[in-house]
Amino acid sequence: MSILTELEELRTEGLAAVAGASDTSQLDGVRVAYLGKKGSLTSILRGLGGLSSQERPAVGKVSNEVRVQLEGALDARREQLKAAELGKKISAERLDITLPGRSHPLGSRHLINAIAAEIVEIFTGIGYRVVEGPEVELEYYNFTALNHEPQHPARSAGDTFYVRDLSGDECTSPEPSEVLMRTQTSPVQVRTMEKQDPPIYILSPGKVYRRDVADPSHLPQFTQVEGLVVDEGITFADLKGTLDHFVRQMFGPDRKTRFRPHFFPFTEPSAEVDVSCGICGGKGCRFCKNTGWLEILGCGMVDPNVYGFVGIDAEKYSGFAFGMGVERIAALKYNIPDLRMLIEGDMRFLRQF
Ligand code: DAH
Repeated sequence: MSILTELEELRTEGLAAVAGASDTSQLDGVRVAYLGKKGSLTSILRGLGGLSSQERPAVGKVSNEVRVQLEGALDARREQLKAAELGKKISAERLDITLPGRSHPLGSRHLINAIAAEIVEIFTGIGYRVVEGPEVELEYYNFTALNHEPQHPARSAGDTFYVRDLSGDECTSPEPSEVLMRTQTSPVQVRTMEKQDPPIYILSPGKVYRRDVADPSHLPQFTQVEGLVVDEGITFADLKGTLDHFVRQMFGPDRKTRFRPHFFPFTEPSAEVDVSCGICGGKGCRFCKNTGWLEILGCGMVDPNVYGFVGIDAEKYSGFAFGMGVERIAALKYNIPDLRMLIEGDMRFLRQF
């Protein structure tokens, strides 16, 4: 077979192979097979040296033509295949802009924190400053300096969580230690008066702990807000006016308050404050145990004995203190029948607030 015939066959075969390549990698294979270093056209061209000088120009011309034609066909086919591949990729990865987006639901403040913030806002609005105290507290601040008798029942290990150092191999002290989980925010009163001279107008929100089994009206861990005022000439009338203002702001102008005499070790005289029941309007119902009233806080005039512990002159200064349970206030404000609902984390319930 003459070399020219061979070239013609190669042209036909090569063009067919180019047309038949169904993707770019097959096409690369075709290019290598015909035009590569060991490709068919290349080996024909290598044979040119053995031709006579009459034959050489014609064969050289045709083989050059074949090369140019094959290269052109390869390039054109490559463009075609690339476009097809891109089209396929685009339709496979198509973005459906009509699909709904992925939502990232924002959380919101838990009702307990929202109420605590509301209480803080009411009092900072009339000039109080917020201070915080430790939840792991010394017995001295939680009880002793708050004028609790050594035998006061709240000091018992049955009512209070005591903290013992268990870092050693064995616990050497069977006695309740002097460190406990605070049972009230009142120790912040003592810590503040130790550090600061009057006038004092402070508010202290925070967690407290008691050895109570959770039931509709008790939680073993809950939130209190403490208030303390010490200044010259402070009277019980100031206390009443302040708490009346608070109740109207928190529960609305139609709710009434009443002050009932009570006892707290660190205030004298002391009172408990009730707000009229929001469910029955004061007539008496299951929620208010038929009394028409709901207890919301404890308060009183700071006992001079407490001033003795912190070195404030009880002749010169007087003051009042109050403490309220945030979960209880939340329950009263929104008529929640069971405090446990606040800590169970049921979103259907919590989302309502
Ligand atoms: N700490 C008291 C309690 O947890 C509440 C209380 C009563 C706080 C009277 C006060 C107060 O500041 O004056 O039961």
